[in-house]
Amino acid sequence: MLKLHTIICSTRPGRVGPSVARWFHDFAVRHGKFDARLIDLAEFALPVYDEPHHPRTQKYEHAHTRAWAASVAAADAYVFVTPEYNYGPPPSFVNALNYVYKEWNYKPCGFVSYGGVSGGMRAVQLEKQLVTTLKMMPMVEGVAVPMVAQQLDEAGNFRSNELIDDSAQTMLDELFKWATALQPMRDGA
Ligand SMILES: Cc1cc2nc3c(=O)[nH]c(=O)nc-3n(C[C@H](O)[C@H](O)[C@H](O)COP(=O)(O)O)c2cc1C
Repeated sequence: MLKLHTIICSTRPGRVGPSVARWFHDFAVRHGKFDARLIDLAEFALPVYDEPHHPRTQKYEHAHTRAWAASVAAADAYVFVTPEYNYGPPPSFVNALNYVYKEWNYKPCGFVSYGGVSGGMRAVQLEKQLVTTLKMMPMVEGVAVPMVAQQLDEAGNFRSNELIDDSAQTMLDELFKWATALQPMRDGA
């Protein structure tokens, strides 16, 4: 089965990212077409980019980079669960993207974004530009969650609705098509 990594991109204390990501990961498991795994960027504790060589060389000097590279390499597709900070991507996500290069290549990605009224969509537009430089293929279809605080119950669990579920289903269907179509390119890389 193709491997899907759902990545929690926010790393700050008190973040809501894990609630949204746990919901999406469970949805992806039920979707059934991927071997789905949940990845928490915070667990890698990446400092601001600190490798001396260009990531393309894969000459990683630090254990945190090797751990992150191994995780990124293991997936065939990604879903980035991302908030919007000041109309842009969270710096934790940009930093994590920069750390490796070839490990991202020829893999499709989708976005589950959340925030206030924008549903994080302004961040996603910028994130799409960044991922294409890493030779990822961003999905047109996406999941946007406006007013995310209203979607959390008293225990902090994310509560979806029909519109959000439909978006998730459509995005995963599309992601599966691309992940399958790009397999020969990943094999040849
Ligand atoms: C530094 C910072 C900037 C923010 N900027 C935006 C923004 O531009 N648009 C938005 O919808 N929400 C913004 N917010 C509110 C976030 O949507 C909200 O805090 C959300 O919980 C962040 O995700 P996280 O808790 O997973 O980190 C911002 C929050 C922070 C901490």
